[in-house]
Amino acid sequence: MTDYEEFITNIKRKTGIDLALYKEAQMKRRLTSLYEKRGFNSFSEFFKGIEKNRELLDEFLDRMTINVSEFYRNGKRWEVLQDKIFPRLLQSNKRLKIWSAACSTGEEPYSLAMVLSNYLPLSQISILATDLDENAIAKAKAGVYPERSITEVPANIKTKYFDKEGSFYKVKDEIKRTVTFKKHNLLKDAYDHHYDLIVCRNVMIYFTEEAKDQIYQNFSNSLRSGGVLFVGSTEQIFNPSRYSFDIEDTFFYKKM
Ligand SMILES: C[S@@+](CC[C@H](N)C(=O)[O-])C[C@H]1O[C@@H](n2cnc3c(N)ncnc32)[C@H](O)[C@@H]1O
Repeated sequence: MTDYEEFITNIKRKTGIDLALYKEAQMKRRLTSLYEKRGFNSFSEFFKGIEKNRELLDEFLDRMTINVSEFYRNGKRWEVLQDKIFPRLLQSNKRLKIWSAACSTGEEPYSLAMVLSNYLPLSQISILATDLDENAIAKAKAGVYPERSITEVPANIKTKYFDKEGSFYKVKDEIKRTVTFKKHNLLKDAYDHHYDLIVCRNVMIYFTEEAKDQIYQNFSNSLRSGGVLFVGSTEQIFNPSRYSFDIEDTFFYKKM
């Protein structure tokens, strides 16, 4: 077994996270630069360090998860969501079941609530938002963001749903109340069903082809017929019909 393979086994035993399902070269590069910075010479030394030091475990989790996000990320796609996808979904149902999977620090589920508030009262909006990383979820619940996170937010929405606090922007409680955050590992935990919309963006790029295949299949099983999967802007699915998906628009897949 190589040094990295042994590390994978140890991390899986300790945290339940299976690094073998993440692209190897990328993940190894990121983790190697972290352990070298912390003065270790190998993955086995690094793991011994992690066993002794909770902060190092947190740092490892932080490095492997990559929490970069922003509100209305790739703004044009959010226009399609608002002007085409939501109106169709709302034709058949006014109580949409929505999941923001790998939601990171909350920008994505809060953006969903803000867009949907153009059509529905906030009291009728309920979004499940999940991530593997509990630290990211804690930040999401706090809902406080630097200005660079909200550059794509339409001006009227900025005024309506954010309070400025110093140089930060805080999401208003009325929006926060529409989102429920939970820890969920896309590679391991059970998926719920009958979703109208699943948003999963900018995480599939980190997974191996086998892992992606399984996750797309799970998403397909989790959507009701006519439901939509919204993916990231580098993450088009090459063979959507394999998962019973039709292309509804660029980066939007409709379950047949
Ligand atoms: C780059 S962020 C994407 C955030 C947001 N979806 C967006 O597009 O802006 C990737 C997120 O995926 C999460 N993640 C990584 N592996 C995961 C897994 N196995 N299950 C659930 N979330 C995972 C990370 O914790 C991180 O918050």
